[in-house]
Amino acid sequence: MKIAVIAGDGIGKEVTAEAVKVLHAVEQRFGGSYDLEHLPWSAEHFLATGETLPSNGYDLLRQFDAVFIGALGDPRVPDNRHARDILLGTRFELDLYVNYRPVKLLDERLCPLKERGPKDVNFVVFRENTEGVYVGIGGRFKANTVDEVAIQEEINTYKGVHRIVKHAFEWARARGLTKVCMADKSNAMTQGHALWQRVFKELAPQYPGVTATHYYIDALAMYMVLDPGQFEVIVTNNLFGDIITDLAATFQGGLGMAASGNIHPGRTSMFEPVHGSAPRFAGRNIANPIGAISSMALLLETLGAKDEAAAIDAAVLRAVQENRVTSDVGGSLGTREAGDFIAAGVTRL
Ligand code: NAD
Ligand code: IPM
Ligand code: MN
Repeated sequence: MKIAVIAGDGIGKEVTAEAVKVLHAVEQRFGGSYDLEHLPWSAEHFLATGETLPSNGYDLLRQFDAVFIGALGDPRVPDNRHARDILLGTRFELDLYVNYRPVKLLDERLCPLKERGPKDVNFVVFRENTEGVYVGIGGRFKANTVDEVAIQEEINTYKGVHRIVKHAFEWARARGLTKVCMADKSNAMTQGHALWQRVFKELAPQYPGVTATHYYIDALAMYMVLDPGQFEVIVTNNLFGDIITDLAATFQGGLGMAASGNIHPGRTSMFEPVHGSAPRFAGRNIANPIGAISSMALLLETLGAKDEAAAIDAAVLRAVQENRVTSDVGGSLGTREAGDFIAAGVTRL
């Protein structure tokens, strides 16, 4: 497997090192060969060269079986231009329309919700990943005056909405799940989200074994906190998906625990932790590497290396149960030591 690795900025570099360490443990235990190419694209690289990524950057990425990203974002690049090109650019240019964000609580101790355990928090969010407000269409008129007008358009296309909603239903059906919930804001966003309504109603009858429910996004946020156990599959747009997956990450123990895949089924896909570069945590060996390590497991699983992915998941679970984790989830290990423990678990379990 040829994997491009973009460690990026801040704690992205530290957690990526641990994910790579765990991948080497997988290699030792299961054989197989993982050919990693480290790409320097980051704030550092941008500040030094003026280049966010080379002009053939996306073509280069397409030649790999998968891409792994740590995190991008640096206060020295206030408009985060490099993150837009590298992270959002990869999602758009490789057409990675499925943002797959599993939400799975590993141990009751990690959950801030009263009396909720692993059986209550086990669902996935499919976030549309190529449209919405993220396309950056809009403009500013009379900028920096009291008359300033700022317009930011939200794009919803039939094709875009249809393929992510369909993916959610197909995913549920393939796994014997019976509940898909779509969330929009069609009561206020009467044009764009009417399209989500139309598509959802069009697709739902094709999945008779699946109960299709709808919540407005504000109510969904409330129900996620009050009764997370009612959800199996949630599908929503790009921005709402971004927001609710940070909320959902807290159910798992925090942002440091959450993993994601940016997927176009059958094509080169990209995997990354849900968290960002956490500049205040950077360089201190305190960041939780589990989100990154679990994202590496998602990468392997997506490429068909199921046993390898399961071994990582088992080692992560063991680390959590034995409290051999970082301080954000109640342990006392550093980033590297937490990674060591999980890597050892992969070779042992
Ligand atoms: P962030 O996710 O970087 O950090 C928010 C807070 O979450 C941190 O202060 C910390 O308390 C906690 N946290 C995050 N990751 C953690 C980890 N691995 N271990 C322990 N705690 C962790 O979000 P932010 O502060 O809003 O953004 C910082 C920068 O990262 C910004 O430039 C932002 O644009 C960027 N960002 C990038 C990505 C990405 O690359 N995918 C995602 C989110 C934010
Ligand atoms: C995420 C991040 C990104 C997003 C930012 C860095 C643009 O928050 O991956 O969740 O909003 O998609
Ligand atoms: Mn986010």
